[in-house]
Amino acid sequence: MLVHNQIYCGDCVELIRDLPDESIDLVITSPPYYQQRDYGGGIGNETTLDQYLDRLITLIEACIRVTKPDGSIVFNLGDKYAASSLLLVPYRFAIRATEQFPTLRLVNAITWVKRNPTPRQFKRRLVSSTEPFFHFVKTDDYYYAIDQFLAIQDQRPLKSESKVGQNLGKRYFELIANSDLTDEQKQLARTELQKVILEAQAGQIAGFRMKIRGLHAEPFGGQAGGRQIQLAKNGFTIIRIYGNPLKRDVIETPVETFKGSQHPAVYPVKLVIEFLHLLTRPGGLVLDPFMGSGSTAVACKLTGRDYLGFELNPDYCQFAEQRLKSMTTQPNLL
Ligand SMILES: C[S@@+](CC[C@H](N)C(=O)[O-])C[C@H]1O[C@@H](n2cnc3c(N)ncnc32)[C@H](O)[C@@H]1O
Repeated sequence: MLVHNQIYCGDCVELIRDLPDESIDLVITSPPYYQQRDYGGGIGNETTLDQYLDRLITLIEACIRVTKPDGSIVFNLGDKYAASSLLLVPYRFAIRATEQFPTLRLVNAITWVKRNPTPRQFKRRLVSSTEPFFHFVKTDDYYYAIDQFLAIQDQRPLKSESKVGQNLGKRYFELIANSDLTDEQKQLARTELQKVILEAQAGQIAGFRMKIRGLHAEPFGGQAGGRQIQLAKNGFTIIRIYGNPLKRDVIETPVETFKGSQHPAVYPVKLVIEFLHLLTRPGGLVLDPFMGSGSTAVACKLTGRDYLGFELNPDYCQFAEQRLKSMTTQPNLL
């Protein structure tokens, strides 16, 4: 039985056998990329891509076994060029995983946009600056706290929407003037339009749409009945758009660097924190089979989740332990 909040030094394929079935809330990890670096043995240095994918498939099979029915598995993989051609390694892995384990569902391929990719301009191709994070689940009843995801970004004022509101407003005034509404209806439409523009400018609503009889298609769907009555009676209807900005499948952060890092391929703690909020409850248990410098463990400690980590290279195990011991909740560690 493995003790929580420990990093175990050894081969993840062997160590994961010690974990009971359905005991983990989230597996989140970044396996070594194919033929990218020599970490001193381990996964990544196989002679062929198929051999590499076979080993990852063996590991994800074990991850599926240890993950709870409402848990998630998140794999971040990088790509590679061979003979001037992109191998599409991450997608080959995702296709094989979903084909081989038909009950595995791929919820999203979330794109990590690196704000500061390695500044090396190629003459004949563009700089790669994205990597996928594949979010897999075992059942449709996976834990999912969508409101927690990118909550920090959501606190930004709805400035851009206010601008849209102003522009839309101008166009609608012209449309009202040129419509076949009665003078009384036009006056009411202008008053209501002015009101909703002010609401958008004050950030009380995210935006709005106006429909004017004879100019726009009639509304249909859930609330269409009420709107059709307004159109018939007043000659117009205004649809207010409330709620948060869309939660999109993109996370943009800089590549992680922190003082004294001894690991060449660290993923950002901030990014892991987003997944912890989205996919685990406070106190949940998170496994990273390729713990590297300990980023997943740092994110767990900062957000009150338990972790288990495996790492083959003893130097990285030691470094991750030091990083965890010395950490405070200061933002420079993020
Ligand atoms: C891409 S790095 C992970 C980096 C980590 N996400 C971080 O932020 O520091 C992959 C790690 O997997 C380790 N590794 C390779 N094969 C392994 C294996 N079979 N079992 C456990 N760890 C392994 C490597 O030593 C390397 O540190």
